[in-house]
Amino acid sequence: MGRLDGKVAVITGAGSGIGRVTAILFAAEGAKVVVADVVVADAESVTTEIVAAGGAATAVTVDVSDEAQVDAMVQTAVDTYGGLHVLFNNAGIFPDDDGGILDTPPETWQRVMEVNLKGVWLGCRAAVPAMLDSGGGSIVNVASFVALMGAATAQIAYTASKGGVLAMTRELAVEYARKGIRANSLCPGPIETQLLAGLLADPERRQRRLVHIPIGRFGRPEEIAKAALFLSSDDASFITGSALVVDGGITAAYVTPE
Ligand SMILES: NC(=O)c1ccc[n+]([C@@H]2O[C@H](COP(=O)([O-])OP(=O)(O)OC[C@H]3O[C@@H](n4cnc5c(N)ncnc54)[C@H](O)[C@@H]3O)[C@@H](O)[C@H]2O)c1
Repeated sequence: MGRLDGKVAVITGAGSGIGRVTAILFAAEGAKVVVADVVVADAESVTTEIVAAGGAATAVTVDVSDEAQVDAMVQTAVDTYGGLHVLFNNAGIFPDDDGGILDTPPETWQRVMEVNLKGVWLGCRAAVPAMLDSGGGSIVNVASFVALMGAATAQIAYTASKGGVLAMTRELAVEYARKGIRANSLCPGPIETQLLAGLLADPERRQRRLVHIPIGRFGRPEEIAKAALFLSSDDASFITGSALVVDGGITAAYVTPE
């Protein structure tokens, strides 16, 4: 028996990193998965992998900052699989020129807000009616540990966008708590994915981050996917409005052990 048997899930940013591994895990746990990404080839290759393993998946091209495309993404879930029970709002960007408050270009600020914050809002907005029609559901929005504390290396737009995700998710959770929809945030620490590839390839910048992680290593996408599975499944049936921190202990530490 799978932990998502009978559920239909939409996953954004499912072509790479955390989203890719989560799509494969959700399908293995019985969900029918809409694999949504702005990079169509990646969405298709994840879909092919799921179907080859005996799962059910459909690829959708979406820019999460585009209202019509996000609505169409949710409609694909309803048309193809008959409803929607899980939304994993995972797509996000972390541009190289997102830095300090004085040097981040306004266009970068704008694009980060469009994708990381407005994209999550549009996803929730499209999903809520479909979930109500399906008898309820679970929304998991990807924030970050930087939604809870300042980053040691400035990335002001990214941090602000993730703080917005956290606050928005709490309010959404309260509004729909009695209508059968749960909403929670997931706050990863630094995870070895494409998002951080450039940064982590530089030994000095890598070490600058590593020093803050009590567990002494970066996280793996599988470790976030398993937390997303828990929040999405009925195992978390009394959990809403919470933020699940999966960060190797970063937010617990004042200083890290040698
Ligand atoms: N990797 C980390 O250290 C880390 C830490 C905390 C939070 N996060 C968050 O986790 C989420 C997933 O990140 P990841 O590390 O797997 O990164 P990733 O770059 O490997 O994957 C992100 C995916 O989102 C897609 N995407 C980007 N813009 C999009 C758009 N406008 N519309 C649709 N899809 C879009 C990309 O094509 C890619 O497939 C992001 O929200 C990120 O901010 C990551």
